[in-house]
Amino acid sequence: MADNAKILILNGPNLNMLGVREPEIYGADTLADIEQRCHAHASTLGFSVDFRQSNVEGELVTWIQESRTTCQGIAINAAAFTHTSVAILDALSLLDIPIIEVHLSNIFARESFRHHSYVSAVAAGVICGFGWRGYTLALDALKDILDGD
Ligand code: DQA
Repeated sequence: MADNAKILILNGPNLNMLGVREPEIYGADTLADIEQRCHAHASTLGFSVDFRQSNVEGELVTWIQESRTTCQGIAINAAAFTHTSVAILDALSLLDIPIIEVHLSNIFARESFRHHSYVSAVAAGVICGFGWRGYTLALDALKDILDGD
């Protein structure tokens, strides 16, 4: 089932600034570095990856809606929208494909407003605190889920 699966990896606001944005929290890698690692790792799993970022909530909602019929799994770092967006939760709730929530930082070790996530309600699992590795771990998790392991 996982063979040739297409995975949408979605990134929310300010993640386009990785590399210069609070590197002590988010690491020195750019989003392009992370994207490259995702493509390399996905190819070892037999996946193809559609890797996207937007600062616009509605654009993320539209991409989530589209993934319903075009993708077999989704990994999402909704960034600040994680903590605020009922619209993203509602869009994710439309999906019948597995959803993995990713955060670079450990949101539970940070400010209390980051402890609540709207995404978690519909996620198969949450990976946070492992930096860029969270993205490749999410791909591993999707592989196991899609393989039925
Ligand atoms: C983040 C954590 C969020 O709280 C924050 O707003 C982000 C990035 C992370 O990857 O650690 O923008 O999702």
